[in-house]
Formats: sequence, structure tokens, C-alpha cells
Amino acid sequence: MTSINAGPTGRLRLAPSILAADFGSLADQVRSIDDETDWLHVDVMDGHFVPNVSIGPPVVASLRRYSARFFDCHLMMTEPGRYFGAFKAAGADGCTIHVEIGDTAALVAEARSLGLRVGLAANPDTPFSAVAPFLGQIDLLLLMTVFPGFGGQSFIGDVMDKVVQARHEIETQSVAVDLEVDGGIDERTAPLAVAAGANVLVAGSAIFSRPDPLAAARSLRLVASHA
Ligand code: DX5
Ligand code: ZN
Repeated sequence: MTSINAGPTGRLRLAPSILAADFGSLADQVRSIDDETDWLHVDVMDGHFVPNVSIGPPVVASLRRYSARFFDCHLMMTEPGRYFGAFKAAGADGCTIHVEIGDTAALVAEARSLGLRVGLAANPDTPFSAVAPFLGQIDLLLLMTVFPGFGGQSFIGDVMDKVVQARHEIETQSVAVDLEVDGGIDERTAPLAVAAGANVLVAGSAIFSRPDPLAAARSLRLVASHA
């Protein structure tokens, strides 16, 4: 399937994370929430940058056959540059790298040269000043609201100050950058993140760990859109 594009920057978007889905029936799970999916968030963990391993390009390629949504690949990897080509070939639309690994400008340029939309992520304890110099070069800023590596963790509210700061800079500099939050997003925390300035909400457990994932996604969108 050919994917739809990312859509206009800044609009409220829900990005369900498949990390919390049942991998044994992944295609069915992804299709079941399609109506409430703006972007599909794909968490890639390499066992080095984070103490966990997950999935890679073959799963992206398989899912591409079942979903036309924008595939938002979050690369929790120390060497993402080695895999940009494979993700692109598999059908990824965007790749987000972490600022903590360094070499940011070159990696961003490399991903962009392959036609990927480019995101930059920062861990909860990484200051905004680490990502600020790159705002003019990226399409997405991902501010982690948990330490990456595992789904189902508690939202770190202190990150909201950084979200406010980031939104302020995005508006001040008039850059077309989506502001995404990831980790512990549910009906209680989504409105806090949106009020602080986030416009892309990643949610794993709050969707796929519920008995009715589609209804859960719908209710998440509803509370977020009224924040
Ligand atoms: C954490 C991942 C998240 C995670 C979110 O390392 O980047 O995308 O799957 O899961 P929940 O919504 O369960 O916190
Ligand atoms: Zn993620």
C-alpha cells in the first residue's frame, strides 16, 4: 500500500504505538484502529541505546500491506544511519532519531536525502537546548515523557515545561515542526500534553491494552481535542 502523507504540520494527531499490540495478530490489531489512526508509531529498539529489543524493517514492510497510514518510526538506536535505507525501502514515512547519540546534523541530512520525514527525539532528562539548534532542519520534535525502552510506564509530568518551551520556540521561529509526546499518554495525561503545546500524541497501552482499542483511541482523541 502507498502511504498517505503526514498532513499539515501542527494539527492534533493520534499516533497509536504498536509496541503494546499483540504481535501475533499485528495486522488485525492495526486494521482495527485504522479509523482513529493518524500516524502509526513504530518503536524500534536495538538493545544498545535502550535495554530492550523490538522490531525492524521486515515488520514495517509487512504492515505496509495492511495500512496506508503515515508510518512514524521511532528509532531508539545508537546507529540509526545504518538502517535508514532499509526503513525507507520497507515503507517507512518518517524516521525519528535520538539527539543523545550525537552526529545529529549529518544523520538528519542523511535521512532527508532518502526522502524520509525527519524527527529528533529527546529523553526526559535531555534539556531543550540540546535540540533547539536543529529546529530549522527537522519536521518533528519528539519529547519523551518516559525514559525510552518499555511501554506501560508512568508519564513524567516535569517534561511539560520543556513542551511549553518547545512550542514557544516553534511559534517564535515559525518553523513547520510537529511536536510529539511519547510515553504514559492516556485520557488523563493527553490533555496536559496538548495544553502544554504538543500536537502529536503517541499512545500504546492506553489503546492496545484496553478491551476495545478503537473505542479507547476515540476517547483519547476526544479528551485531547477538548484540552
Ligand atoms: C517507549 C516507546 C513508546 C511506548 C509508549 O520506549 O517509545 O512509544 O511504546 O507506550 P505507552 O503508551 O504504553 O507508554
Ligand atoms: Zn516511541
